[in-house]
Amino acid sequence: MKQIKTSSLLFAFLILLFYACRHEPLVSEDQNPDITGNTCDPDTIYFNKDLLPLLASTCARAGCHDAASQMDGVILTDYESVMQTADVRPGNPNGSDLYEVLTEDDLDKRMPPPPNLPFTTEQIQMVYTWIMQGAKNLECIDTACNLDDVTYSQTVTANLQSYGCVGCHSGSSANGGVILSNYTAVADIANSGRLMGAINRLDGFAAMPPSGSAMAQCPADQIQKWINNGTPDN
Ligand code: HEC
Repeated sequence: MKQIKTSSLLFAFLILLFYACRHEPLVSEDQNPDITGNTCDPDTIYFNKDLLPLLASTCARAGCHDAASQMDGVILTDYESVMQTADVRPGNPNGSDLYEVLTEDDLDKRMPPPPNLPFTTEQIQMVYTWIMQGAKNLECIDTACNLDDVTYSQTVTANLQSYGCVGCHSGSSANGGVILSNYTAVADIANSGRLMGAINRLDGFAAMPPSGSAMAQCPADQIQKWINNGTPDN
């Protein structure tokens, strides 16, 4: 009996010693930002990931708030322009034009102007929260990017919609003759290499979307995954 106790004590001591000796990480945090980098927090609004796709597809359009048109001097194509031209007051949504125009009762002042639909409650809330959180340009690593269940009908169409691609690329006057509103046409343009060429802004292709920032990593990766899977009609 005593024999067992002594050996198990010794064993416990050795385990303790082992852990006590390995508390120093081999790589310090700032040398290796990718490993310790910020994963996306669901309660934080990230400008490029969350807000910009909405602004790009609804506001930063030709004739409205792209760099060329800049209606009322407001450009909503990227973070710097938004901060310089849209009267954003960090921490004070109600004092920020960018927020105020979304909730305006007076239809002459509301953005986007009729007949465009107003932002949804969730979209308005996102702008509010972003300003409340300091209107920062935070980045995060999207470990939640789902590349396992990528489908045409859910993932690819949603990503193209949210970047405003379908608006310019549908109907009889589709821009550049490129149609992105039905499966066959999207699969064709994807298989020609032009879809990812445009999204990834490769040399020799028109960069898409034409104004504002490039598509974020996750939606671009998802479309690439769908192409790698053989552009299935799923
Ligand atoms: C504001 C309108 C507009 C939006 C939004 C837009 N496009 Fe385009 N797109 C165009 C125009 C105009 C062209 C033709 C450009 C040219 O030929 O120089 C074009 C060309 C293309 C091409 C052909 C590129 C090539 O070089 O062969 C592809 C592919 C494309 N767009 C995909 C997209 C995708 C994907 C999105 C969304 C991420 C998108 N577009 C958003 C207007 C738009």
